Amino acid sequence: MGRVILSGIFCASKSDVQNSSGSESAFTPQKFIACVSREESGRRVTKDFGDRVTLLTGENVKGVSEADIVLLCTKPQVAKTILTEKGMAQVLEGKLLISILAGVTIDQLKGWVPESTRIIRAMPNTPCMIREGMTVLSCPVDTRAHDKDFALWVFSSLGRARFLDEKHLDAVTGLSGRIVCSVILEAMADGGVMMGLPRDISFELSAQALQGAARMVLQTGKHPSEIKDSVTTPAGCTIAGLLTMEDGKIRSTLARTIQEATTVASTLGASQAKSEK
Ligand SMILES: NC(=O)c1ccc[n+]([C@@H]2O[C@H](COP(=O)([O-])OP(=O)(O)OC[C@H]3O[C@@H](n4cnc5c(N)ncnc54)[C@H](OP(=O)(O)O)[C@@H]3O)[C@@H](O)[C@H]2O)c1
Repeated sequence: MGRVILSGIFCASKSDVQNSSGSESAFTPQKFIACVSREESGRRVTKDFGDRVTLLTGENVKGVSEADIVLLCTKPQVAKTILTEKGMAQVLEGKLLISILAGVTIDQLKGWVPESTRIIRAMPNTPCMIREGMTVLSCPVDTRAHDKDFALWVFSSLGRARFLDEKHLDAVTGLSGRIVCSVILEAMADGGVMMGLPRDISFELSAQALQGAARMVLQTGKHPSEIKDSVTTPAGCTIAGLLTMEDGKIRSTLARTIQEATTVASTLGASQAKSEK
């Protein structure tokens, strides 16, 4: 995810320059430092970004000391060790720390860094890899407007991004996962195959139908049922399909799936907190 975010920042910086007749935006960072612990990961960073990024292996304190903004993109289990490493508190003083760690709360992060460190929590999802992501950000109420704008600028480069109260992040995790869409996509494609379509074509048609429906909602702001009603001809094939879905309780099944995923996501956060004690 760290490399994905860095790619987004490079693309956003490039388009800022193109859109504003050569001048850079207030957010474009001037220098990038990537910290890793293994040489193998370092090689991946070098392959992707070459000399645009200074690579530091096993030198997190040095990396943070040279940065104004720190993006924390490790697995949640190692975050505390990294943030409480000897010398880290001094170099984190007064800096903005943006964490993408799933299940690690702002309060937990505050417990590991100096009081002067400003914290923003981000929850991106995997489609960020193709710049079609959805990132929800949370921050303490007294967060500076410039910090919020910077974080929005970074994650908007990977798709959509918005701020929400941290209490919603478990629901965001439950809702933003790809699993529901993958299952729907596969089931639709199976139906096409059952009716004689080649599988690859069935996948293409299903994926484009889902993408089209989603984009129409996002771009027009219309309620999905408004779009549905406008294409449902009396006694036609759409209403026939709709009733079949209702017979299968598809709405409550999908809604309960999100409910269950949210419940489990909240338990994961709690177990992270427990493992610190
Ligand atoms: N993947 C997603 O879709 C997604 C979505 C939302 C949130 N997240 C969050 O993103 C975080 C990262 O996930 P990921 O899938 O990108 O994990 P990952 O591929 O394992 O990447 C973790 C990175 O952290 C580095 N790292 C680990 N220990 C380090 C240390 N002691 N010092 C310096 N660098 C260290 C690793 O480098 P080395 O290999 O060199 O140690 C690696 O580059 C997780 O907290 C996850 O909850 C991920």
